[in-house]
Amino acid sequence: MGFAPQVEYLKSNMSSRSSYVCGYGTFLFLIALLSFIAQSQEGILNSIRASNLPSRIRKDSTTAEEKQWAVLVAGSAGYENYRHQADVCHAYQILKKGGLKDENIVVFMYDDIAFHVDNPRPGTIINKPFGHDVYAGVPKDYTGDNCTVDNLFAVLLGNKSALTGGSGKVIDSGPNDNIFIYYADHGAPGLVGMPVGKDLYAKDLIEVFRKQREASSYKRLVFYLEACESGTMFEGLLPSNWSIYAITAANGEESSNGVYCPEFYPHPPSEFSTCLGDVRRRTGFDYEYTSHVMQYGNMELSKELLSLYIGTNAANDNYTGNSNMETWSLARAFDQREATLLHFLHKYQKAPDGSAKKAEAHRDLLGIHSHIRHVDRSINHIAATLFGDENAANAMKFVRPSGQPLVDDWDCLKELVRAYEKQCGGLSWYGKKYTRVIANMCNAGINVEQMMGASTRACSHEIDKN
Ligand SMILES: *[C@@H]1O[C@H](CO)[C@@H](O)[C@H](O)[C@H]1NC(C)=O
Ligand SMILES: *[C@@H]1O[C@H](CO)[C@@H](O)[C@H](O)[C@H]1NC(C)=O
Ligand SMILES: *[C@@H]1O[C@H](CO)[C@@H](O)[C@H](O)[C@H]1NC(C)=O
Ligand SMILES: *[C@@H]1O[C@H](CO)[C@@H](O)[C@H](O)[C@H]1NC(C)=O
Repeated sequence: MGFAPQVEYLKSNMSSRSSYVCGYGTFLFLIALLSFIAQSQEGILNSIRASNLPSRIRKDSTTAEEKQWAVLVAGSAGYENYRHQADVCHAYQILKKGGLKDENIVVFMYDDIAFHVDNPRPGTIINKPFGHDVYAGVPKDYTGDNCTVDNLFAVLLGNKSALTGGSGKVIDSGPNDNIFIYYADHGAPGLVGMPVGKDLYAKDLIEVFRKQREASSYKRLVFYLEACESGTMFEGLLPSNWSIYAITAANGEESSNGVYCPEFYPHPPSEFSTCLGDVRRRTGFDYEYTSHVMQYGNMELSKELLSLYIGTNAANDNYTGNSNMETWSLARAFDQREATLLHFLHKYQKAPDGSAKKAEAHRDLLGIHSHIRHVDRSINHIAATLFGDENAANAMKFVRPSGQPLVDDWDCLKELVRAYEKQCGGLSWYGKKYTRVIANMCNAGINVEQMMGASTRACSHEIDKN
């Protein structure tokens, strides 16, 4: 089908990409999948163990006046991102069983999965193979165009007058209340996405926390974040004395993982062309492997019971953290960017030869390839312009030591991203892995005019060459 030049391109780029785990994985994976078509599956299976269930569920110790609130956010849209909304629906079902009331749970999801044309089980969403429907009953608070970062902030701040659309439900909490936030998305250094409009930048989230704290609107706040490079959302930013505890699926340089992906063990049911879930490689800091799970903020909160946030369910009373843990000796998990690509590759493979579907899937793949190439080229070109050829490679892969935030001037990061996007087009799910490079530009004192100039050159240069 004429993938040879693309494969060559991707191969030639692999060595220079090794510092970007999410992106590197994509390349590696594309190569792997193409060879998988010819070879057996075993060769590329990774050995991981995983659990996507929270540990430390035990008996409730909340007092009568302590209310539990939750905000659940799926940061993506599109069938290829099925897993994020599935995760959020699953989280809702856990909270519901835990005894939280709908009036205290606010759900942000684009809601384009259950009735998507590609969904083999219309009207339902599952989060694991043989899993039950997790979609039923999920409140449609902020769906479609209402699923924005401004609405999320308004909800967290309990500010109804700042809302645009949606159910109007906000976190109307007080100083005795506990708030649980769960967020599943692609992620990127310094930001997580929302399905509509602007991204959520780390610094802005911390500002919202500051306001919540000043308004005494919580006793404890726990944030579970499932996204690539998610450590950068809190690293060097979240103070330890705010009574906020954040746990992230990945550190600042790593990917988080999609699981139950087509063609790989453990499989989704065969009719699914998408990954069903995400996984924190380890949910508990008391487990053997903790390298991928990061904690930020007030560590004291991590010693308390999860039931303070997610309620209790009689069925979980005797839960020890191990009994429900799924252990896979041969499981293959995909990082967030790989998982998206996997969907399109799988769709292509499954379509009958010569069909319109095949042609469409082929076009999709070529479009993705050309987007990846465009972003790689333009960012490399910009880095060379701004830092000089010798220093560009360093600037591309430099990672600040832990304890330091991704960038000192977050407005600069936003402005440079905007400048790039204006001249070169949107970064999208793939290109956002480069926000660390752009942050490095800010840290090196590059201003928006310089970025604008370099972006203009890089992207008109691309057009000239094509
Ligand atoms: C709520 O949002 C509105 C509109 O953005 C703003 O003017 C107002 O100051 C906010 N109220 C509080 C208490 O922050
Ligand atoms: C957005 O919210 C408005 C107001 O609640 C509602 O009428 C509309 O249907 C919502 N849009 C979507 C796509 O859910
Ligand atoms: C929290 O810690 C910071 C320094 O890390 C300190 O400046 C601030 O006063 C502390 N706040 C409280 C309420 O203890
Ligand atoms: C939990 O353990 C107690 C004591 O062993 C037992 O009585 C109870 O039935 C168990 N609960 C569940 C849900 O298994």
